[in-house]
Amino acid sequence: MPAFIQISDPHIVAKGDLVCGHSDTATALRRAVASINERLPELGPIDCAIVTGDLTDHGTDEEYAHFKEIMADLHLPWQAIPGNHDSHDGMRRAFSTEHWMPAAGPIQWLRDFGPFALIGLDTLMDGAHHGWLADEGFAFLDQTLAGLDGQPVIVATHHPWLPSGIPAMDADNLRNGATLLQRLQGYRGTAKMISGHVHRAITGQIGTVSCLISPSTAHAVHRDPHPDAVHSLALEPGGVTLHLWLDTPLQGFISDVLPITPKPEVWPFG
Ligand SMILES: [Fe+2]
Ligand SMILES: [Fe+2]
Repeated sequence: MPAFIQISDPHIVAKGDLVCGHSDTATALRRAVASINERLPELGPIDCAIVTGDLTDHGTDEEYAHFKEIMADLHLPWQAIPGNHDSHDGMRRAFSTEHWMPAAGPIQWLRDFGPFALIGLDTLMDGAHHGWLADEGFAFLDQTLAGLDGQPVIVATHHPWLPSGIPAMDADNLRNGATLLQRLQGYRGTAKMISGHVHRAITGQIGTVSCLISPSTAHAVHRDPHPDAVHSLALEPGGVTLHLWLDTPLQGFISDVLPITPKPEVWPFG
């Protein structure tokens, strides 16, 4: 049963700093790493983790070094795509020796799990908060989907196209996501889209494509749809998402949002 864990939006800052003066993102990511490590023996074989963007809050070398230091404790290999709080140059400098980092161009990749394939796409436009899949991203997607020949596929982006119902976030989503979803609906295999950016666990369906937004390891984006709402972070519990391929009784993906907690007590029913 191939599987991977999605870590999203850790927003690591320099040591000792807090995001917006309130969110201790480094402690949150350390807890997430410890929680994943603790659960691995029970969760079964997990192939890897992926980080769906906003690895850091400002894309500085210092923040990437801090991120790498925390992630070094994770007992899984991992690979990443950028988010709007990242920097292409900063990520490339920090991860230039990683197998998943292209030498130039968008930070995009393909990972084949056997029963399914995972495509990581780069929706970062340096300096902008909204997402945009560049022509090179569409070219990579088209070429990759053609080669997969109907194999079930998961496409990972930082910015979702699925609306969240939070106006400030939906204004900065993947603005050409409709074109991406058209491509996925035209694919002859099953397709699922997974994203981050909204810092909340949200699922929905667009046409034939199921869409999932994974929570952040740290703060959430406060849900308040009122027009006069102040766009805010909320110190809700963080989470990560386990994506698992099942062979029986039906073949397909399931996604299980795992809260970041110390190892819970487990007691037999009855
Ligand atoms: Fe984020
Ligand atoms: Fe983001």
